[in-house]
Amino acid sequence: MLERLQKIISAAGITSRRASEELILNGQVSVNGVVMTELGTKADPSVDTITVNGKTLNVKEERLYILLNKPSGYITALKDSQGRKLVTDLLKDVPERVYPVGRLDYNTEGLLLLTNDGEWANRLMHPRHEIEKEYHVRVRGKVVEQQLKRMAEGVELEDGMTAPAVVRLVKSGEQNDWISVTIHEGRNRQVRRMCEAVSLSVVRLKRIRYGSLSLGTIREGQFRYLTDVEVSELAGLPTKVSTAKSLKAGVEHSQGKAAQKRVPREPRNAVEGNAPPAVKSAEKRGRPGQDRKPFAPKTESGRRMPKKP
Ligand code: URA
Repeated sequence: MLERLQKIISAAGITSRRASEELILNGQVSVNGVVMTELGTKADPSVDTITVNGKTLNVKEERLYILLNKPSGYITALKDSQGRKLVTDLLKDVPERVYPVGRLDYNTEGLLLLTNDGEWANRLMHPRHEIEKEYHVRVRGKVVEQQLKRMAEGVELEDGMTAPAVVRLVKSGEQNDWISVTIHEGRNRQVRRMCEAVSLSVVRLKRIRYGSLSLGTIREGQFRYLTDVEVSELAGLPTKVSTAKSLKAGVEHSQGKAAQKRVPREPRNAVEGNAPPAVKSAEKRGRPGQDRKPFAPKTESGRRMPKKP
């Protein structure tokens, strides 16, 4: 975003707005190598290189990484011509604009990641990384072994065969069965189409895991910030040692009112060399609450995906 130079310099913690104007007037500030002496000059700190007395400002936007338990009836697009509810409606108090990592259908529930770090999101979504996504699916009636086997081996869809998947029965009920489907592709409506291909009718679909991250006990419609370690692990980056601050990042957030007390940003000494790390998990405090009854109970073997702190 374009902003006045003096605002950028003072926001970077170098000096006050007034003193920043002096720096500009004295020819001590340059943008992309060109000295700027006009007070009205604007620059975009996310793309322009701004230097003060030859030192480059590091004014990177705070990176946010969010895990939301998406309810059914929300779309993952950022706007909708039909006026349907958007997942970002659930994040009103998040201070920066964030974008969903991939998509979930309007009626799909569960784990959705959102971030303003495009590089991280692209890394996660790149097919090369084959990140596993696990879904619990409630299907009408009874499944038979052959249906699970076919889904596991790969089924023919209109956009080609699906890659092998891990498919198993989780629970058998009177009216419905629950199955778990783990895939690493990210095709549109893939799980629903895989089910259709073996004549299974989907009643409910919920993503419960994305790579190393499990949905855990976060309630429907609530979100939490990822820890630094989770952010790094998920993208297959070297794991950073968490700070005390980032360890608190797993707190659940409810929408609105008192729940959203924001911890003030650390003051930045933004001249390069002293800048804070670009990956920064903001922390917020949320209202602790009762867990909602889980959509699918434990697996037959009693196995649960490992919980993150
Ligand atoms: N597969 C689907 O069919 N729908 C989703 O939302 C996600 C995976």
